[in-house]
Amino acid sequence: ASAGPIVKPLPPEWFVPYGTNAEMRWDSVDPRRYLTSADRLFVRNHTSTPAIDPRTWELRVHGDGLADPRTHDRAHVLTYRDLLRLPARTVTTVLECTGNGRSLFATQQGTPASGTPWQLGAVGTSRWTGVPLSLVLRRLELRSDAVDVQAVGLDAPYVTGGVDYGRVRRPFPLAKALDDALLVYALNGRPLPPDHGFPVRLLLPGWVGIANVKWLGELEVSREPLSSPWNTKWYRMTGPDYPVDSPPLTVTPVKSAFELAPGAELRARRRTVLTGRSWSGAAPVVRVDVSTDGGESWSRARTRRTHGSGWTQWSLPWRPRSTGEHVLLARATDAAGRTQPDRVPFNDGGYFFSAVVRHPVAVA
Ligand code: MTE
Repeated sequence: ASAGPIVKPLPPEWFVPYGTNAEMRWDSVDPRRYLTSADRLFVRNHTSTPAIDPRTWELRVHGDGLADPRTHDRAHVLTYRDLLRLPARTVTTVLECTGNGRSLFATQQGTPASGTPWQLGAVGTSRWTGVPLSLVLRRLELRSDAVDVQAVGLDAPYVTGGVDYGRVRRPFPLAKALDDALLVYALNGRPLPPDHGFPVRLLLPGWVGIANVKWLGELEVSREPLSSPWNTKWYRMTGPDYPVDSPPLTVTPVKSAFELAPGAELRARRRTVLTGRSWSGAAPVVRVDVSTDGGESWSRARTRRTHGSGWTQWSLPWRPRSTGEHVLLARATDAAGRTQPDRVPFNDGGYFFSAVVRHPVAVA
């Protein structure tokens, strides 16, 4: 049974909806709160949120990468109760859509990309609790030559342009599965909400949103590299600047956002504190520089402690001296040494817009 495109309420002061998707408004973010609550987390649904009964839900694990290579029909089965009984871990991490910031390819670089026209709100930092996938796979025993795992969602098959692409699914290397992948059943300490994958979703910390398959129903473990349209057709860089065999996107880039609406109004000669957040899938953000004059001069923002692989909050006091439009910019650097560039090469899917974003404000 289908529950609906998105089940949770989307108050217009918190969300901008786009069909089956909705992004968080940055001006609704409370600077005193580190975590994104479940009711404010963006939603990205290829089709719609399914209604799944946890009493009948099963995770089916199969494939020739297992010592006991069951088939799809006779898979090893894990129930919701089985999962809740296994040792759990809780991690704080960013979840971000690969196309977050896509609309900025058009507004900032003059080259529109096709797809959901996200501003910068398809991102959040939450606490996720679940069972390490490594624990489940090791209990089933892996073959030493297993290389890939494919995660399959239970939402309706994705049909677009008259083509049925089947269930949302994406493979990932076994190394990631054995490193920090989690079979998640709680978000900020409560059962996963329907829109975020109830009863169980996959979490691959630091990796693109699509890798975090919601409503998980199946895992195939394979001795051969696996593929799906979600790592070949989409969620890869394509276009004139990229080779035809560019790899599937995995770790997310470093990015920043102000906790302001685009075109927000500020008062001249009044001290305000500019606040925002920066994040990276590779490592914590360690430095943020802010400009209030369109990039002519920069000041180092004050950063706060990063929790786990979550985002970093920052602030900079500012007293605008003149009225009129001012352009704010924030440039972050992560502990892996990656800094946001001024421009990013265009790609057809509009993925990874990680350039420094020009944020105009109106000073009156
Ligand atoms: N998993 C399934 N089964 N179906 C989906 O449509 N969307 C993916 C991913 N997992 C999706 C999915 C994408 S593109 C993103 S960005 C994240 O889920 C969004 O997670 P959220 O809706 O919990 O914020």
